[in-house]
Amino acid sequence: MKHRAIVVHVDGRAVEVAEGATVAAAIERAAAGVPAIYRRAVGGRGRAALCGMGVCHECRVTIDGHAHRLACLTRCAPGMVIATEGP
Ligand code: FES
Repeated sequence: MKHRAIVVHVDGRAVEVAEGATVAAAIERAAAGVPAIYRRAVGGRGRAALCGMGVCHECRVTIDGHAHRLACLTRCAPGMVIATEGP
């Protein structure tokens, strides 16, 4: 079964993902092979998705203006705007 491609925006960059992909997948795709930073800890260190199943909350990002959404549990929607605290 072939999935339809949709476009989301990660930190202002258009990223094409398969319909049904998670926001975490879109962020990783936008990072293009370098470690992605999803958010910053209080001390400023970069944090990224860890468990991939909604337990650790390390993958919190802002989605369509709503802060602290879990990237690993949220499915992409066409035109979605995703903001990380990465570089
Ligand atoms: S990666 Fe752990 S809650 Fe999303």
